[in-house]
Amino acid sequence: MKIAIIGTGYVGLVTGACLASKGHDVCCLDVDAEKMEQLKQGKMPFYEPGLEELVAQEMRSGRLTFGIDKSMATDAQIVFLCVGTPPKDDGSADLMYIFEATEQLAPHLSDGTILVSKSTVPVGTGIEIRERLNAAGKQDVFVASNPEFLREGKAIDDFMNPDRIVIGVESDRAAQLLRELYESFNCPMVQTTIESSEMIKYAANAFLATKISYINEIANVCEFVGADVRDVALGVGLDPRIGTAFLNAGIGYGGSCFPKDVRALDQIAGARGYDFKLIKAAIGVNQEQRWRFYERVIKVMKGDKGDERLEGKKVAILGLAFKAGTDDIRESIGVDFARKFVEDGAQVSVYDPRAMENARRILTGAEFCASIEQAVIGVDAIIIATEWPEFRDFDYMDVVDQVRQKLIFDGRNLLDGEKLKEQGFLYHGIGF
Ligand code: NAD
Ligand code: UGA
Repeated sequence: MKIAIIGTGYVGLVTGACLASKGHDVCCLDVDAEKMEQLKQGKMPFYEPGLEELVAQEMRSGRLTFGIDKSMATDAQIVFLCVGTPPKDDGSADLMYIFEATEQLAPHLSDGTILVSKSTVPVGTGIEIRERLNAAGKQDVFVASNPEFLREGKAIDDFMNPDRIVIGVESDRAAQLLRELYESFNCPMVQTTIESSEMIKYAANAFLATKISYINEIANVCEFVGADVRDVALGVGLDPRIGTAFLNAGIGYGGSCFPKDVRALDQIAGARGYDFKLIKAAIGVNQEQRWRFYERVIKVMKGDKGDERLEGKKVAILGLAFKAGTDDIRESIGVDFARKFVEDGAQVSVYDPRAMENARRILTGAEFCASIEQAVIGVDAIIIATEWPEFRDFDYMDVVDQVRQKLIFDGRNLLDGEKLKEQGFLYHGIGF
């Protein structure tokens, strides 16, 4: 099939490369000319395991091309919208890029083409896209919704082996073409209306975010009563109705999706006069969780004495990516911590295996270090903010003589706390 992708970011580039690898003829488009030039040279705009190799392979096969000219979408049978839907100040999704792209595309779309939103969009957006196409004189272009569920860091595997594929359609033609496109994917397909499909995406992300906030509240109670949230999560999660996934307690969720999508869902409900109490609570818990942990670090590090400021104290923050496996620092809790420590007068060193370059652009006042060893020199506390395996596998005994205080705060319950305690460290995790 001939496919065009509009918006060559995380979702667009992964979708394009994966569909090309399935034998389709894919053209990825973007407004960012420099990004597209770099891609033509094989340079990735972000880090995603396996993507560089896959893109190179598919470019060599001739099935994957890049460009900026929307007329390149003219002969595509399916056009995917994969542009960003960032939050506005009130939390609602900004659809500016969706509608701009639709209007830019409209003159170039052929009759019978399916314009599919893979971007996460509020309920009603697909219908509005159709209305805008009609107003632009395109009565015979069909619209559909096909939300994407991939995770950063595991994007290729998630795309190629999804748990399910959701298609929201209002025409037989869209249903038939999308079914044909996904024929070789071995998973259930949920076919529904465009509205339900759009809602499925928000409901899924909000559920997962709520699950994280739930286990984080359980963790907080565990600390009061002397239980261990890691055992509790296992004991609870082995009930298949609950499941063990997404029950890792910690400093909360970050990233470009959960924080934005849960707020957007709250707005979608609120705009219709419905007060979505549970989602508001999940958001509130997530915001508080990191600062609860921050307060604890300060309290332990300084003892009962001392003023509010942290002058003379030094902390190392390990982890600036919002999670492991990515260089994405959008809504990163590690970055939030670094900023707050700097603001509170501490000396701050930071290290991340992948996200240093991105963090340098937005974080000032911290010392960027080339390794864990360098970051921990002379510190009063080591703080783990991202679940990178490299932090788990590191032997902290190798730096025991370098630190000022042997204090480790593990915001992701990543390390072997018992071993560290035996080695003389004061180890603090979350929920035990
Ligand atoms: P992104 O910011 O990485 O990429 C968006 C791209 O769209 C950018 O390269 C931008 O230049 C381009 N763009 C903007 N306007 C354009 C236009 N008029 N024409 C062509 N290109 C244009 O965004 P992303 O992370 O890939 O997210 C895209 C959507 O997918 C969002 O709605 C997001 O919620 C959703 N989503 C993201 C993920 C993820 O893991 N990142 C997963 C599932 C769903
Ligand atoms: C998430 C969803 O998992 C994807 O299905 C979805 O497609 C995507 O959002 C999206 O809509 O963009 P992603 O943001 O890449 O994917 O990352 P996750 O692996 O879901 O992690 C999100 C955050 O939750 C991270 O900060 C992670 O550290 C945190 N987390 C995750 C926990 O605190 N505990 C857990 O048990 C799991």
